[in-house]
Amino acid sequence: MDVDRSFIAELLSININKLKLISKIIARKSFMKNNKNTIAVIGLSFGDEGKGKITDYIAQKADLVVRFQGGNNAGHTVVHNNKKFKFHIMPSGAVLEKEVMIANGCVVDPKVLLNEMDNLRENNKEINLKLSSTAHVICPFHRTLDGLEEQAKTEYRVGTTKRGIGPTYADKASRYGLRIFDLTHPKILKKKLKNLYLIKKRIINCYDPEWDINFNDVYDEYKEYGEKLKPYIIDTAYYLNQAINSGKKVIFEGAQGTLLGIDHGFYPFVTSSNSNALGICSGAGVSPKKIGTVLGIIKAYTSRVGKGFVPTELKDEVGDKIREQGNEYGTTTGRPRRVGWLDLFNIKYSVMLNEVDYIAIMLLDALEGIDPLNICVGYEMEGKSLESWPIHPELVKKCTPIYKTFNGWKQRPREEWREIANKGFKGLPKEIKVYVNFIAEELQTKIAMLSIGPERESTIVLKDFF
Ligand code: GDP
Ligand code: IMO
Ligand code: MG
Repeated sequence: MDVDRSFIAELLSININKLKLISKIIARKSFMKNNKNTIAVIGLSFGDEGKGKITDYIAQKADLVVRFQGGNNAGHTVVHNNKKFKFHIMPSGAVLEKEVMIANGCVVDPKVLLNEMDNLRENNKEINLKLSSTAHVICPFHRTLDGLEEQAKTEYRVGTTKRGIGPTYADKASRYGLRIFDLTHPKILKKKLKNLYLIKKRIINCYDPEWDINFNDVYDEYKEYGEKLKPYIIDTAYYLNQAINSGKKVIFEGAQGTLLGIDHGFYPFVTSSNSNALGICSGAGVSPKKIGTVLGIIKAYTSRVGKGFVPTELKDEVGDKIREQGNEYGTTTGRPRRVGWLDLFNIKYSVMLNEVDYIAIMLLDALEGIDPLNICVGYEMEGKSLESWPIHPELVKKCTPIYKTFNGWKQRPREEWREIANKGFKGLPKEIKVYVNFIAEELQTKIAMLSIGPERESTIVLKDFF
């Protein structure tokens, strides 16, 4: 190869080193153009779409699973050998003992992270974690503020998970946040934590003049967290880019859903980060050119925890039935989830934002025995049908969903669903085939996976990744 290069260099009368550099650049560009080694798993709705299950499924063939935003507001369920694992901050690939990464765009409650690591160890799982030195740290007073601010918001109450997510991201933007790096440097930690504590105390005392917390106790606690987490802390952006460049198979595991995203979601009823594929670049430190495939995850219906108007919400016995059959109770807070018909109009908006390549449709089994089924295909406002999802709660509130009706499928025992999964797409009841084909057509995407049960075996795969 070098002989060829020097010959070509001579012909072109350019320096051999320059030619080496040019061929390296060309090779890297063509590698990235055909990049099939990175995949983003993104919720297209209001969270809890089943991202954890799909990440775990794909992770079987992956090398590295990366969380790039959010914190322990997330609740991802993975069913592995009949055991349920609930992850809040650890990426779902941890069940498979894969290399996992918590990147800079996340906010980390060290206590929760260490608990999840202990839980994995108790289940004899080896931990291979890379934790970003620049991720921000959730402190006790962030949780306190989350609760107090929620109370003060009256009709604009978001119904947060009260995990301190919003206040921690707010401090990051205000530039006095605490970062993972600081935890491992006691002198820096003391100064920064004190600064933060004093600022927060002033604010919290406006709500509750009596409030205080023992600073030294918090300092000691967080210093200890730093000691425990030190072996895992690195510059994750550098590591990740090296990993991708060397051909490692990487999953970006989204938390929350696109419609809960701070910039393009249903503001203010959202979380505090960009929970869409757009958030990967800043949240993990990778170029958009490094995101190969975008896999959007949706449920066969809508679910929502927290506040915010849901036009397709079912507040009747049909809604109750879906809630029970889908076990729609929050993974993080245990709150009953609000449920409704599938809203393809807002999901279309998410497909556009994320430039979705494939979709996975989850919890089809949870709609069993409900007949007919409705899918929202558009909104009508003041007598006119809208071209695009109107984004603003004030406008969405004025809208009436336009539905298309479908035949439902019958209720069946679990074993029968498993038999269907074994047979693959052809084994599905024809009503499900009609339902999912309509979704794919309406969203102009391809179906990669269909899910008819929480466990890995209840997955019908139409497109293999990696
Ligand atoms: P995530 O936050 O997107 O990872 O989703 P959650 O784990 O919070 O919520 C999804 C719930 O549905 C979990 O309890 C999963 O175990 C469960 N689940 C996932 N796929 C299916 C499915 O196809 N059928 C049923 N019945 N449950 C599923
Ligand atoms: P996963 O990753 C569903 C919702 C909360 C609230 C709003 C803001 O499991 O899909 P926050 O605590 O983030 O400030 O709350 O966002 N929310 C979620 N809803 N699934 C989640 O995560 C969520 N994370 C936050 O209920 O309405
Ligand atoms: Mg969840």
